[in-house]
Amino acid sequence: NFIHACRRSIQTKAVKRPPLGFAFDIDGVLMGGLEPLPKARNALRILNGDNPLKIKIPYILLTNGGGHTEYERAHKLSSRLDVQISPSQIVQAHTILKDYVDQYADKAILCLGGNGDTMRRVAESYGFRKAYTTTDVLAWNSSIWPFIQVSESELAFAKPVDFSRTPISAIFVFHDPRNWGVDVQIMCDVLQSGGLLEGPYIDKAQRKNNIKVVFCNPDLLWKSDFPRPRLGQGAFKASFQAVYKTLTGSEYPYVQFGKPTKATYDYASGTLHNLLDVSYGPGELPQMYMIGDNPESDIAGANAAGWSSVLVYTGVYDPTTGPPTNIPTHETRDVEEAVK
Ligand code: G3P
Ligand code: MG
Repeated sequence: NFIHACRRSIQTKAVKRPPLGFAFDIDGVLMGGLEPLPKARNALRILNGDNPLKIKIPYILLTNGGGHTEYERAHKLSSRLDVQISPSQIVQAHTILKDYVDQYADKAILCLGGNGDTMRRVAESYGFRKAYTTTDVLAWNSSIWPFIQVSESELAFAKPVDFSRTPISAIFVFHDPRNWGVDVQIMCDVLQSGGLLEGPYIDKAQRKNNIKVVFCNPDLLWKSDFPRPRLGQGAFKASFQAVYKTLTGSEYPYVQFGKPTKATYDYASGTLHNLLDVSYGPGELPQMYMIGDNPESDIAGANAAGWSSVLVYTGVYDPTTGPPTNIPTHETRDVEEAVK
């Protein structure tokens, strides 16, 4: 289909530009854990120009994963997939947080997810200048969660901050938290005390400012290299909300990004548009194809965005459970077949 569509458009000279664009999910489509999935390399090579028409087809990687800067992720994926991928082609769960820098650049924010200070580095690479982690909080007062000892190596990365005098303005769950107990405890402390840790818990009605809570990935499940899907950030959100509701009587209001949200697909559309040449008008895209392994995130989001969607069998979706219900998609077994 891909070759036929390109040949038709080139022959008719209808357009001097690639008629198609692709968005690839990463975990379960291109990667199984740290290793490339079979045929992932070849699928990207076809789009990078290794095709009978010798034309490059624009594509982005659109993942609910994260934990690195887009530069670091592009570098890691380029070496593992042996295909040149640019940081400008990478949309991770937290990439969209760049849109919050104007509002929070000089306000103290809590960055959850990942290990050590990786999320601080990502936040600072976006322009946040007061980005703190739960390791910073534990280094400030380890009794906030008596069941853990911060290691010397983690303490080396901690920033000396007095969180009883540094009000937290927002909590951004950049990536999947590692120690849910610590993160839920600190989130509940920050939100109940209006941002100042060790401060008294303030009744909802008396709180002056609502601290913004943003989750970047709604995935309840995701596919790594374990034979069964793993609990994702959506499961962490469910555990936080269950604890917070038990403590306070209601869930905490939050913003949700990540596939399948419209905000994330709009952001991804803008990212792909920026790869196109000037012959495309503002906001204009070629016919878009999303290739994913998770019907609830990749496929549902693509269909809602008006893109064509292709579901592969190499990730979360288990073909033995039968075709996914009421979400139009074209099923295939692997990513190379999907591209062709
Ligand atoms: O944390 C990663 C996971 O939630 C899903 O990643 O690449 O399948 O969107 P991906
Ligand atoms: Mg996936």
